[in-house]
Amino acid sequence: MSGQVSLRGLLPCLRCSGLQKVVWIPAASFHGTLHLRGEHKVDQIGYLRQRGIDVLRKPEINKGMAFSLAERQILGIHGLLPPAILSQDSQVKRLKANLNKYDDPLQKHIYLSTLQDRSEKLFYRILKEDIENILPIVYTPTVGLACLSYGLIYRKPKGLYVTVHDLGHVYEILCNWPAETVKAIVVTDGERILGLGDLGANGMGIPVGKLALYTALAGIPPDQCLPIMLDVGTNNKALLEDPLYIGLRHERIRGERYDALIDEFMRAVKKRWGQDTLIQFEDFANQNAYRLLDKYRTQYCTFNDDIQGTAAVAVAGLIASTRVTKKRLSEYTFLFQGAGSASTGIANLLLRALIDSGLPEQQALEKIYLFDIHGLLTQDRPKGSLSESNAKFAKSGVPNMTSLDEVVEFIKPNAIIGAAGVAGVFSERILKAMASYHERPVIFALSNPTSYAECTAEQAYTHTQGRAVFASGSPFSPVEYDGKVYHPSQGNNSYVFPGIALAVTQFDIRHLPESFFLASAKYLAEMVSDHDLAEGRVYPPLSHILQVSIKMATQIGGFAYRENMALVYPEPIDKEQHIRDGIYSTDYENFVPNMYEWPDVAYPDHKGPRKF
Ligand code: NAI
Repeated sequence: MSGQVSLRGLLPCLRCSGLQKVVWIPAASFHGTLHLRGEHKVDQIGYLRQRGIDVLRKPEINKGMAFSLAERQILGIHGLLPPAILSQDSQVKRLKANLNKYDDPLQKHIYLSTLQDRSEKLFYRILKEDIENILPIVYTPTVGLACLSYGLIYRKPKGLYVTVHDLGHVYEILCNWPAETVKAIVVTDGERILGLGDLGANGMGIPVGKLALYTALAGIPPDQCLPIMLDVGTNNKALLEDPLYIGLRHERIRGERYDALIDEFMRAVKKRWGQDTLIQFEDFANQNAYRLLDKYRTQYCTFNDDIQGTAAVAVAGLIASTRVTKKRLSEYTFLFQGAGSASTGIANLLLRALIDSGLPEQQALEKIYLFDIHGLLTQDRPKGSLSESNAKFAKSGVPNMTSLDEVVEFIKPNAIIGAAGVAGVFSERILKAMASYHERPVIFALSNPTSYAECTAEQAYTHTQGRAVFASGSPFSPVEYDGKVYHPSQGNNSYVFPGIALAVTQFDIRHLPESFFLASAKYLAEMVSDHDLAEGRVYPPLSHILQVSIKMATQIGGFAYRENMALVYPEPIDKEQHIRDGIYSTDYENFVPNMYEWPDVAYPDHKGPRKF
């Protein structure tokens, strides 16, 4: 056979694999066949019209050395790769070996980020397979280090930057984004990045990381996700003086222009990608976070993960704890150490949960105590010193107490929840007191990072003789106490936000009212097995998170249809199957389906595909 081969017969369309009749195509000009526009079974990808080196430069399709011989020939990349053909499994082994060579988590983060730029499927497979170890590298705590040195480690643009100087042109900028279908956006203005404060445009690491989790933990296809930085400047002096800083070099613009930018941005998203595009606000400072949530929550499909995601996860843990304590939630008294956004968000959702369980609002309010830097929140506080969202928890008729020991002794709470970033404040004395009041005291040390935790898992179990129901904000290793191994749970927001996003993107949910977050808390609590509880967990193991997200999205989908909030019509009968059909697969696509034979012109003796 010479190099002059031709193809004829039924050949699959490279977009949808649907067969079509082809009379004669000289192989030399063969780029794959495509159905006429509109006839595809799946209107998905158009990139296979590309050939040559560009195929290797596109992370969405690049398989590296896993391209088969036939694919290399069809796509015009034969010779551009070493001759060996590797399976994805071998590639994963090689990448893990390389990753394990680094001790520094930031180096691991950079390595994975460049992998994401090279081959998306490989990146997500590694993430998905080893979620417990890779999550802290891709997201917190390492993403914080990445944001701190974003200017230095910046390699390739990821996501979209919209600045306050683009006012009047935001829609045009969104039109520069190449994807026609964006279903989920994570947006930040970089003002309160984790516990690190104002990092300006360097905060882009957060939406980028969060959306990687949308795909890894919920299977939302990466091309439907868009990270956005709204750059209005920064008040971080060190960044303003840093020659490598990637953002606008002036102080934050606030007030009318700030609000006009956010307004125009929201309208532009709706115009470009539709009303049902999910817009997740992330790491906005307290003064804007609540305000913007209240302003947009009924007009757009939006939520704030720092407020609502955190609350849903914490309340889920509290609900799950009732199966250990054998008490109803309405029988608990709760003490929050901290009255900031995390505590207030949790307390408000908890209030809803108590009311939902049948408790009158006034009685429910009496069960929730908040303690901040000035002591217990009481009605004696000067007028205006409490925010609208936490003033309702201020107590009357109780003594003013400024020591946590005193308050614990006075209230004898069933659950203490720490979210004030005061390391070690759950002292041996407090933990022992909790154990003396209750058979199974609930101790949640939610402050991040680990060094800020109110107590360690070991302290919680040791000072309560192993009776504490413990969860933390940062991960703790299993603890052995008195011959039993306890697995402390991490109250990680990842248990809720990916499932919510998956439901929104699969069922086109219009808005996300607070009832969705209470529902997600209940669904998550139901997913905690008796086995998990026996091991000391109040959440499912992190390694099960993809399944948790799918189940969560299925339940939320059902809830959305009952609330008349989902737009996908007709309503899918088997919602779980509907979701599973749409989720991202990390398996490589076969660009030359096996069903037709490919002439092997370059390797005549190749024992692979049969020749024509
Ligand atoms: P924030 O700044 O809004 O609130 C902090 C609160 O702590 C304020 O009410 C302040 O008065 C209080 N506080 C400070 N020092 C205190 C002291 N010595 N005694 C008593 N109260 C004191 O902060 P935010 O956003 O509420 O976060 C607080 C902590 O919760 C952080 O460490 C954060 O990492 C953690 N967090 C954990 C989450 C999770 O586990 N999923 C989610 C969100 C926050």
